[in-house]
Amino acid sequence: MSSPEEQAFRLLTEYSNGFMVSQVLFAACELGVFDLLAEAPEPLGAAAVAARLGTSSHGTELLLDTCVSLKLLQVETKTGKALYQNTELSSTYLVRASPKCQGNMLRYLARTTYLCWGHLTQAVRDGRNQYLEAFGVPSDQLFSAIYRSEDERLQFMRGLQDVWSVSGRPVLGAFDLSPFPLICDVGGCSGALAKECTSLYPACRVAVFDTPEVVQTAEKHFSFPEAARISFCAGDFFKDPLPEADLYILARVLHDWTDERCSRLLARIHGACKPGGGVLVIESLLAADGRGPLTAQLYSLNMLVQTEGRERTPAQYRALLAAAGFRHVQCRRTGGLYDAILA
Ligand SMILES: C[S@@+](CC[C@H](N)C(=O)[O-])C[C@H]1O[C@@H](n2cnc3c(N)ncnc32)[C@H](O)[C@@H]1O
Repeated sequence: MSSPEEQAFRLLTEYSNGFMVSQVLFAACELGVFDLLAEAPEPLGAAAVAARLGTSSHGTELLLDTCVSLKLLQVETKTGKALYQNTELSSTYLVRASPKCQGNMLRYLARTTYLCWGHLTQAVRDGRNQYLEAFGVPSDQLFSAIYRSEDERLQFMRGLQDVWSVSGRPVLGAFDLSPFPLICDVGGCSGALAKECTSLYPACRVAVFDTPEVVQTAEKHFSFPEAARISFCAGDFFKDPLPEADLYILARVLHDWTDERCSRLLARIHGACKPGGGVLVIESLLAADGRGPLTAQLYSLNMLVQTEGRERTPAQYRALLAAAGFRHVQCRRTGGLYDAILA
């Protein structure tokens, strides 16, 4: 049994090494370890993995064994040789061929988010995002910084779509949306949530509203099996008319913006609503006192380093919605990463 002092030191070490854990995950994904093991007809040794990935045998062995400790891989020893294969976790979320693969998001976190977090201290000092420090781009127009190249826009769009294969149904099913046959997903990006929506509600149609560049990229690079029920509409949600709809969805949009900008957007949506219409806000909700859950707090700090916004408590969303004229505000926590508020 370790002493309280040793336990505290262990906790501190765990925290300070947290970034190493992320990097093991990012590197294994980037090198294609999980895809290789998924495609191999049988478990592979470190030398075989290194040969097929073109990596060093020393580094590969260290990486694979660390992945075992993180439960990303499992190992069995046969005639003195360690053979590796994917665990259920990696097969489900890290293999490219899996419908729930989160690989695009991990790539975005590794290549963009991680670099912004390297400037967290400065972000706390300044109270603003760190695109200038991390990438040398000004961020007075937030999405010009986020979409600083065509490649970066595609990475962002691919990354953001991943979570909806896992969390889409819980958030869209938190309320019965079947009374809303025409839905507009405002800031709907690649249409990933729209796809989940048309699959969960077979009678609904979804118009995805986003910037002209995003709409163009979505139409060029993303496929739509339900194309007849998903349409795209390009514009600026702070200025241009919004498409007609029974329900407007705002998923991970309000958390990008200050209260003032959120109020402006919500007032525009309220103005576009028909009687009986509504808005569904999908965000990661903070606890009532703002002190948890840890994931939502980390997301809020992420908003500090990458956007102009923050995560909010249910009361903060209620106040924004009420000020824009919405009534009958209901919050549902899903138990997953994202929660739903219908107003
Ligand atoms: C954080 S992303 C969320 C995307 C998507 N709703 C999701 O949850 O995956 C914010 C989205 O808002 C869009 N957006 C930002 N500013 C916009 C504007 N002025 N007009 C229209 N869309 C905008 C972005 O292009 C992006 O797709």
